[in-house]
Amino acid sequence: MFFSSTLTILLSWLAQVISRPIQEPLSIQPLRPKLHGRFLHITDIHPDPYYVADASESSACHRKKPRKERWRSGYYGTPFSECDSPLQLTNLTLNFLDKNWASEIDFVIWTGDNARHDNDRKIPRTLKEIYDLNSALAVEMENIFLKKGVPVVPSLGNNDIWPHNILAAGPNDIINRFSSIWSAFVPFSSYQVFRRGAYYSVEVIPDEVAIISLNTMYLYDSNKAVGGCEFREPEDPGNLQFDWLEVQLKTFRQRGMQVWITGHVPPSPGNYFPECYVRYVELSLRFQDTILGHLYGHMNNDHFFLLEAGDLQFPSVSDLAPADSVASQAHDGLYDTLVNDFGDLPKKGKTDHDNYGVVNVAPSVVPNPYLPSFRIYTYNITHARDGAITKRKKKPSKRKHGHRRGGGNKEELCKKKKYEDSWRCKLDEPWHSDPRAPSRVNTLWSPLGYAQYYLPEERLMNRTKQPKFKLEYLTYRLEALHPSGDNIEGRGEFNYPIPLKQLPKSIREGNVTSSKFVPYRMDDLTIPSWVGLARLLGDPLKAKLRRRFKQYMYMGDDDS
Ligand SMILES: *[C@@H]1O[C@H](CO)[C@@H](O)[C@H](O)[C@H]1NC(C)=O
Ligand SMILES: *[C@@H]1O[C@H](CO)[C@@H](O)[C@H](O)[C@H]1NC(C)=O
Ligand SMILES: *[C@@H]1O[C@H](CO)[C@@H](O)[C@H](O)[C@H]1NC(C)=O
Ligand SMILES: *[C@@H]1O[C@H](CO)[C@@H](O)[C@H](O)[C@H]1NC(C)=O
Repeated sequence: MFFSSTLTILLSWLAQVISRPIQEPLSIQPLRPKLHGRFLHITDIHPDPYYVADASESSACHRKKPRKERWRSGYYGTPFSECDSPLQLTNLTLNFLDKNWASEIDFVIWTGDNARHDNDRKIPRTLKEIYDLNSALAVEMENIFLKKGVPVVPSLGNNDIWPHNILAAGPNDIINRFSSIWSAFVPFSSYQVFRRGAYYSVEVIPDEVAIISLNTMYLYDSNKAVGGCEFREPEDPGNLQFDWLEVQLKTFRQRGMQVWITGHVPPSPGNYFPECYVRYVELSLRFQDTILGHLYGHMNNDHFFLLEAGDLQFPSVSDLAPADSVASQAHDGLYDTLVNDFGDLPKKGKTDHDNYGVVNVAPSVVPNPYLPSFRIYTYNITHARDGAITKRKKKPSKRKHGHRRGGGNKEELCKKKKYEDSWRCKLDEPWHSDPRAPSRVNTLWSPLGYAQYYLPEERLMNRTKQPKFKLEYLTYRLEALHPSGDNIEGRGEFNYPIPLKQLPKSIREGNVTSSKFVPYRMDDLTIPSWVGLARLLGDPLKAKLRRRFKQYMYMGDDDS
């Protein structure tokens, strides 16, 4: 018995080996395309078909040639202006990404506003124009990325609808239209949910990493067509979206997966309805072990901020000062608000990282009001070998129970009629946080850093020379850009977080010990790393670092 079955196995193995074409390696075949460990975040493109060069800013760069040359709109865009993007700029940007990045990345996060602003009374926007601009860009994104096997995950911007900011509960005509404009990007399995609310998820690395694309129009407090997630309105579209998000996060967590949460309007107290904000923060912290990060646009301004457990307490009277809400501010107030908030962080050894989430807001392609830019993120694929992952991560976490959050001023206030039906008083599920999660420590799928590219001011104005995107800055340490040691799996250049040819010459040659391109020198983009950077920025003595942070926020437009 023993011999005969062994013999059978041996014979069938031999038969397989012999019948196999010689050049095919005997090792297990990869189950997915080769990963690069990078993705693109692009946002707020705002193409404007009416844009003309040499026009006045007061006409939204649509007409009226000013006398003085320096007040005229530029050929590739008008820096630091209120004008939208000429098609020369959107073409240039997409061509640049096609040529330099499309074959270097694994997926694209594209966070909305693909139509011009409604800022010219003489040429009001129409729904048709908004759909046409969105369709044209969707086709380009499909050709440049999707057809090369790179998934694209769009989300709806407040200028992708008409009137801007206003979107009623779905299903409705606008959402129907986007379900066809984005039919190449939204998975069929998400179709039903999409039709109801224009939100969905995509497994960009099947069974491993997903992107959740939220429709922030149902959370954004400028949308007067929805209720704002009030506890007593379970059918409010914002509440329905959070109910869906909760189920998504539970399911992805059970499957041992990791997710990025993405959308247009960032989750800040200044942007979201108060009750929507509470639900967002609570889910972010409750599923901290499953969420890699939060990526948004809309602000056209490079920054990050923290979601904090304290936001789930009732604000004390002193916290209610209007100056305290991030992003409700004029652009120049945002910097002060952020560094003040960072200054309130607990000291280094006293920080419980379970209490934080990090929201990254990327600057826009449109040079309104700064300069065109995009971001390339990198993430950890060191052990992303087929099979190995599945076994390693499906091991159940030892910290399954999570922990409850109470205390603060809640217990008392939630007994009062005024507060009892608010979300803060209803949310007491245990949290899933884990210091070994990819959001907390550098491990498989953890975000490692980003490179931000931009078009410098002088390059936009001159039509004789096609401008090129330049590196603005990197979050990494200089050493990380030239990893030593053997190539991972013999994959040569994938060992480098940013391909050397995309780095300035000074860094490419690898023999400098300092560089103006690496202001932050972060080990990775985990929560402890961001909280660490925030703590430094919160320290008024770190004047140089603060200056750099502000310079990137306003892209050198220091008058802001
Ligand atoms: C932009 O690209 C599209 C498609 O490639 C082309 O049809 C259009 O003429 C270009 N527009 C400009 C202004 O370069
Ligand atoms: C990725 O995480 C592993 C730990 O799981 C670590 O050993 C490795 O150095 C990380 N890779 C990078 C590029 O940081
Ligand atoms: C535009 O660029 C060309 C070529 O580099 C240069 O000769 C010219 O002086 C530039 N014009 C302006 C106004 O900067
Ligand atoms: C770095 O290396 C390049 C080429 O090998 C050389 O030309 C350059 O002078 C070096 N720079 C420094 C700062 O050593």
